Amino acid sequence: MLALRKADACDCAAVAELATAIVGFDADRRACFDTTLASPDHDVIVAELDGAVIGYAHLMTYQDLTHGALAGELLGLVVREDLRRRGIARTLMGEIIRLARQRGIGEFHINTEEDNEAAKALYASLGAEVVGVQMEIDLE
Ligand SMILES: CC(C)(COP(=O)(O)OP(=O)(O)OC[C@H]1O[C@@H](n2cnc3c(N)ncnc32)[C@H](O)[C@@H]1OP(=O)(O)O)[C@@H](O)C(=O)NCCC(=O)NCCS
Repeated sequence: MLALRKADACDCAAVAELATAIVGFDADRRACFDTTLASPDHDVIVAELDGAVIGYAHLMTYQDLTHGALAGELLGLVVREDLRRRGIARTLMGEIIRLARQRGIGEFHINTEEDNEAAKALYASLGAEVVGVQMEIDLE
């Protein structure tokens, strides 16, 4: 049965494996994971199926000085490849939206690749609209 819960330190390897699968490279994410979980501004939710972590979602809350309000950004959403198209991401996003409301966030932003049709369809089905263009300066 699918269950959602807040991530804890023991989930680092499972979350890292999911992240590695989508970015295409491995990395030591331990320090990043621990810092994220320790921050009051981050919500990391894992989806568990029969005791195994098979997806996660990550919301960051921040002070938006320009609007003088709390804002949010979805920093991660992954479902294990063999379990996609079963409503797991939709369930995770429902929890992220609930948490965002609970935190008092007025709006949160989502970035995705232009060709990520699955993600774009998911977010559109949740009411997300395209409001700008994502740009990136590569400092490496
Ligand atoms: C995007 C992703 C998280 C969707 O996870 P999922 O659990 O398969 O999504 P769901 O089953 O909850 O799908 C919900 C809705 O999203 C849309 N959707 C999901 N996958 C889709 C696909 N491959 N093609 C078209 N629409 C899709 C549909 O509207 C779907 O509703 P429906 O099944 O009733 O038609 C998953 O494909 C994934 O992990 N991709 C790799 C990581 C990634 O790209 N993350 C997003 C980064 S911004």
